[in-house]
Amino acid sequence: MAQQSGRDIAPATGKLGVMLVGLGAVSTTFIAGVENVRRGTGLPIGSLSQMGTIRLGKRTEKRSPKIKEFVSLAELQDLVFTAWDPIPDDAYAAAVKAGVLDRHEHLDPIKDFLRGIKPLPAAFDQHYVKRLHGTNVKTGKTKRDLAEQLRQDIRDFKRRSGADRLVMIWAASTEVFLTTGPAHQSLAAFERSMEQNDQAIAPSMLYAYAALMESVPFANGAPNLTVDIPALQRLAEERTLPIGGKDFKTGQTMMKTVLAPAFKARMLGLAGWYSTNILGNRDGEVLDDPESFKTKEESKLGVLEYILQPDQYPELYGNVFHKVRINYYPPRGDNKEGWDNIDIFGWLGYPMQIKVDFLCRDSILAAPIVLDLALFFDLAQRARLSGIQESTSASNTTRRRERRAVRSHGRRGRRYHLGPVVFPAVQALGRGRR
Ligand SMILES: NC(=O)c1ccc[n+]([C@@H]2O[C@H](COP(=O)([O-])OP(=O)(O)OC[C@H]3O[C@@H](n4cnc5c(N)ncnc54)[C@H](O)[C@@H]3O)[C@@H](O)[C@H]2O)c1
Repeated sequence: MAQQSGRDIAPATGKLGVMLVGLGAVSTTFIAGVENVRRGTGLPIGSLSQMGTIRLGKRTEKRSPKIKEFVSLAELQDLVFTAWDPIPDDAYAAAVKAGVLDRHEHLDPIKDFLRGIKPLPAAFDQHYVKRLHGTNVKTGKTKRDLAEQLRQDIRDFKRRSGADRLVMIWAASTEVFLTTGPAHQSLAAFERSMEQNDQAIAPSMLYAYAALMESVPFANGAPNLTVDIPALQRLAEERTLPIGGKDFKTGQTMMKTVLAPAFKARMLGLAGWYSTNILGNRDGEVLDDPESFKTKEESKLGVLEYILQPDQYPELYGNVFHKVRINYYPPRGDNKEGWDNIDIFGWLGYPMQIKVDFLCRDSILAAPIVLDLALFFDLAQRARLSGIQESTSASNTTRRRERRAVRSHGRRGRRYHLGPVVFPAVQALGRGRR
């Protein structure tokens, strides 16, 4: 039972419908994980909303309730799911193919439940994800027609599932690299461009638009442009809806966002950071396409620049050589290996090296973040927080992009990648308790 908070927050009563775009490795690991936790056959490890505590008052008071007891979050029992995917596999077949969770231990016992989640036809266009060939796709004369069909899907799911509230999370493939253009500047331009089938409007934007028009918060787990455009950001603010996202950044980039602040805190210099990965899942295959990889690369490269502030510390970070590689290597499946070679320098410029070899499981790291996003975005909506949810992460905005955003929005426009750094928001929402 959540304790009373200091802000007027609508209660988390009834069901929360989680609408996932993409029913691949991350989504199925998330859904199957939630069901296993509900049945007591696993723990929600990696989920801040489920396992995290929050300190109240002074350290010596030793008051640290669980976050979920401090703010009103939806209960796992109240989650219901649906998904869109151009591949027609139900959640069981997709999870087996993804090969993340053990079939006998975590999938077969919940087979009926997973089989019941069949993907809705997707708004999909191979132009944006070259390596996929989907058959379960919507047809329509214009992109606007597709967006209207997505809106209908949202209304249908709400009715069918009996959900009180909804959230939508993009856990679909990384789209090709796009930059903000005239089609993205205003809602009128965006809607006109949908009607003209403008290539500047990617499928992910259609989902985000449909979500916002149906008053559903939207979080993006891929580095696509998606909601990073003035038209959708303004729409979210006008309709008092939370949005966010720039990739889950769960593996190698998580390590970067931990190590880089350590170097900066010690005022150690950075000469170079070479990161390479081998990854054998479908995501790896999609990212093998240079256009999808560019989207990922841009977003990964931005992290260091934002954290290290080379403008402010030119002697330390003014000349960093940063390289990121993702290599598709099928034998590894979802078990990625990420190597980092980091060249740092210290007192009088003497060089040192750090090597990181992270043998991680991509979707095992991402699934709890999907859960946290669903719960915290729902909380944000009930608390009437709108626009980009800065508190859901450290920012990966490059200063260059930020300056551009300032110019185009007349204010500090920041883009955030998703990660479970929600303490400031939780503290703000629970302020009355402190
Ligand atoms: N796994 C991780 O830890 C991790 C970390 C950061 C980011 N991501 C990103 O999360 C996303 C999902 O990763 P994954 O490992 O589940 O990939 P995946 O390939 O297993 O699943 C993605 C699914 O999205 C579907 N899809 C593609 N375009 C679609 C569209 N327009 N509409 C609906 N569905 C569509 C694909 O058919 C596929 O089934 C990727 O963009 C990935 O880069 C993953």
